[in-house]
This record gives sequence, C-alpha cells and structure tokens, in this order.
Amino acid sequence: MALVTSKEMFRKAYEGGYAIGAFNVNNMEIIQGITEAAKEENAPLILQVSKGARAYANHTYLVKLVEAAVIECPNIPIVLHLDHGPDFETCKSCIDGGFTSVMIDGSSFAFNENVEVTKKVVEYAHAHGVVVEGELGTLAGVEDDVKVEDGMSSYTNPDQVQEFVEKTGVDSLAIAIGTSHGAYKFKPGQKPQLRFDILQEVERRLPGFPIVLHGASSVIPEYVDMINANGGKMPDAIGIPEPMLRQAASMAVCKINIDSDLRLAMTGSVRKYFNEHPDHFDPRQYLKPARANIKELVRHKLVDVLGCAGKA
Ligand code: G3H
Ligand code: 13P
Ligand code: ZN
Repeated sequence: MALVTSKEMFRKAYEGGYAIGAFNVNNMEIIQGITEAAKEENAPLILQVSKGARAYANHTYLVKLVEAAVIECPNIPIVLHLDHGPDFETCKSCIDGGFTSVMIDGSSFAFNENVEVTKKVVEYAHAHGVVVEGELGTLAGVEDDVKVEDGMSSYTNPDQVQEFVEKTGVDSLAIAIGTSHGAYKFKPGQKPQLRFDILQEVERRLPGFPIVLHGASSVIPEYVDMINANGGKMPDAIGIPEPMLRQAASMAVCKINIDSDLRLAMTGSVRKYFNEHPDHFDPRQYLKPARANIKELVRHKLVDVLGCAGKA
C-alpha cells in the first residue's frame, strides 16, 4: 500500500469510537519501533515530522525512511504528516515533497490571520491531493523553539470552530482542552484535568468532524523513573492520564499526538544501557533496547489507549 491521506482513517475512527496514533519521528530507530508495533497490531498509523525533525534529519532522509517502512508494512495504511507547519512555504515544501497530510499551525495568530494562512494552505494542499489539519486555541508547553507559558495558553472557543472550518476548508481541527506539549503537563499536587465540556461543545457544533489532540503523552512513570534511576534529572514530569485519552478517543477525537513518551522511552533505555555497560560504545548495542522499548510502548498505546489495534 502506498502512503495514504487520513480521510478514510478518520471517518472509520470517528464512527468506531477510537483514535489514530500520530507519532513524531526523527530517526530510523524510532520509525522502526513504531511501525513494527503497528504492523504486528494491524493498526492504521500516522507518522509525523516537525520543522525541528526536518532540520535535524533532513526532509529527504525522513521521507525515504518512511517509504521504507511502507514497503516493510504493506498491509497497514500509513500517513506522512507535517506536524506544526509554521507557514505556507514549509507546508508547500512538504506537499511538493511527498507528504500526504500537513498541519498549518496558525494558532498563535489572531482569528482572521489564522483563517487566511490556513485557507491558503488548504487550497494548495487540496489541489495536490493532500489533507490539512488546522488549529484553534493555544497549548502550553514547548514545541520546536517556541515555549508558551502556562498563563499564555488559551482553551479553544467553541463559538469559533464552525466559522473556522467553513472559511478554511480544513479536513481536521486541533483544539486546546488542557493538554500541553512536553513532559511537564501538570504541577505536582495538581489534579490532571481536561475540558471535556469544550470537546463536547465542539463536537455538537461540528458533527462528524475529526478533532485532533496535541500534547497527549501520558509521560509514562516507568520511563521517568528509568531516567531518574540512571543519572537523569526529571523530577515532577507528569502527563495526561491514559483513561482521559481513551475517553477523548471515544468522542470526536480521531488523532492523538505522541512525542514526549517516545523521547522518554528512548532516553531512559539508553541511560540504563550505559549505566549497566559503561565500557560499551557500539550504537547498535545501545539503540537496540531503545528501539525495542519504543515498539512495546507504541503497542500499549495502540491496544490500550487509542483502541485502533486491528483496525487497519
Ligand atoms: O509538538 C511538538 C512535537 O513534540 C515536536 O517537537 O518540534 O521538538 O520536534 P519538536
Ligand atoms: P507530547 O509532547 O505530549 O508528546 O505532544 C506531542 C505533540 O503534540 C506533537 O505535535
Ligand atoms: Zn503538537
């Protein structure tokens, strides 16, 4: 199967009350870990690449690695998506360069500016058979080189979503209901909460329309502990409780973004390996357990959190 768009995936996910995992990829081992799990679990998959990933690994390397995964996993549908496209030019470069889906993140702009840039990307993307994710509302946390302070984040206003979707023609919409980017989503002692009332209201205003959740890592304590037990220092890293993600997946949320959990699994695994084998220096040795742990982590997400195992 060649790379696909998320159109059909989202339609089935919406109807079936589950979500597709959108995992960020930066190198070969991460791509292999994710796709091996999806292949074994027969799950549809979104592999997403950020501006930072393109800067780190190079657009062509990432596209070719994803194409290799498509050849290795002929029976599951895979989308190649641009995560947090910052402007029209970046989106165009990905559309021209083999991606099947792009996000234009105009969430930091005023509503009308967001509509304007999103509409421009949609027109170009649709003319090239590519789908587009837009965003309304601002998440807290760090993405690329931009850090949004807690006080500067804002929930999505449900009064705006219909107008935004109608004016732009986007295929899916990322909303802010209390998730945030990175490994520090809630303060210690704070009760993790998501605004399901906003999600419900968005769903009522946009029946049948696929909603996206960013900043949705659960910051798995096992890997935070592994990092801290092996020389790392990540006190108070807290994520979104997985039952909340499961609940969102059963509602209008069709795409759930996960990056930090992959980073924690890779970092924890490598730190543990070096701690146990201080004399080793072969990257194949220390990246092997990291890749294996990413695979098991993704399997857990597909089966227990997203509910998309067996849906390819
Ligand atoms: O939302 C951001 C993703 O976690 C990607 O992070 O921009 O550091 O690659 P990055
Ligand atoms: P996390 O930092 O929670 O993994 O979120 C990733 C994300 O939203 C990528 O766009
Ligand atoms: Zn994001």
